Amino acid sequence: MPDVQIRIPGNPGEYPVVIESGLLSRISPRFKPFEGRKVAVITDENVAPLYAERITAALDAAGVRPVVRVLPAGETTKCMDQLEGLYDFLLTSGITRTDAVLALGGGVIGDLTGYAAATFLRGIRFIQVPTTLLAQVDSSVGGKVAINHPRGKNLLGAFYQPELVLIDTDTLSTLDERQVGAGLGEVIKYGCILDAALFERIEACGSRENLAPLYPEIVARCIELKGQVVFEDPYDRGLRMILNFGHTLAHAIENAAGYGEILHGEAVCIGMVAAAAWGTRLGITPPDTESRIRHILTDYSLPIEIPSGLTAERLFPSMALDKKASGKEIRIVCLEKIGRSRTVPVPAVRLKELMEQLSSAPRCQDANPF
Ligand SMILES: NC(=O)c1ccc[n+]([C@@H]2O[C@H](COP(=O)([O-])OP(=O)(O)OC[C@H]3O[C@@H](n4cnc5c(N)ncnc54)[C@H](O)[C@@H]3O)[C@@H](O)[C@H]2O)c1
Ligand SMILES: [Zn+2]
Repeated sequence: MPDVQIRIPGNPGEYPVVIESGLLSRISPRFKPFEGRKVAVITDENVAPLYAERITAALDAAGVRPVVRVLPAGETTKCMDQLEGLYDFLLTSGITRTDAVLALGGGVIGDLTGYAAATFLRGIRFIQVPTTLLAQVDSSVGGKVAINHPRGKNLLGAFYQPELVLIDTDTLSTLDERQVGAGLGEVIKYGCILDAALFERIEACGSRENLAPLYPEIVARCIELKGQVVFEDPYDRGLRMILNFGHTLAHAIENAAGYGEILHGEAVCIGMVAAAAWGTRLGITPPDTESRIRHILTDYSLPIEIPSGLTAERLFPSMALDKKASGKEIRIVCLEKIGRSRTVPVPAVRLKELMEQLSSAPRCQDANPF
């Protein structure tokens, strides 16, 4: 299995991302830079019984003093109450500016812990140990940290880079298959927007079972790609928007279906099929692209159809409110071909038409019902 270490350029400096199958069993030396310090391990109730003890034992062995806080699992943990509880815990544990927090878990734990790290004592050291595929390929790198506000997701946040990201792809073996699928949706997205070879590799594997042994390489490639985009556009003012391929419709589906009904990565899959169809109608995306995306998603048992009941009329209003909307034009991400993407401003009325055409288009024979 290849051991991969990538250096992600960041502000204030570069940080290493170590990606290995079995890393947790030999992780202790990675904590040497924290020797003599305290590290607050923040995790959730599902991840704690599986991996917390291995992390605390490794910290102990490296001469680091661990303290552990276990939070409820799920999106509702990314809230002000839990953040406040976390600040209390850090204060009670005597965490100072030279100590660190370590996020052990998925994107929820990573985002909340990162936001606490960014703000506690005006910023303390931050380590990410992501344990979901989505967190490994997406949320643990790039420096976006946040909690939700009752009025919307990720409304309170910061740009704050970790000092170290440690990824053991073996943790994916305990992850629910649906959660793995949601991460795969984002992996396939990277292939679509930036890397035809990655897309073709996943296409050639043809199933989750065949792809699993390649996780270290696949995760590494996704992080490398995200790293390049984030380096060009650290504060999300331009290029970074291509990472939102499939997300215009995805956010609308998540809104309409209710968060939790459909996982974010699943909604992105449906959104990518739609964005390919829109791109073709706009004369940007070659006509065979939509069917290639449909096929790869079907091979990986991922959804491709808008859930029944979610009509264009129900979905469009939240698309127009999406953060990429500006005035009467909505910026969407289109593929020029697999592996190359750009943002395209589309008049809101035109996008509404495209949405309506989508709902009335005949369904594919091999469509994966969702
Ligand atoms: N910061 C960013 O750039 C960024 C990017 C994308 C998504 N996000 C955020 O990430 C969050 C979603 O993250 P997620 O999909 O990882 O969800 P999550 O953190 O809720 O994890 C999903 C579920 O899997 C469980 N779990 C985690 N690792 C496990 C393992 N190895 N074995 C068994 N169970 C495990 C968790 O307890 C949870 O129940 C959202 O809040 C989203 O806004 C942030
Ligand atoms: Zn996403």
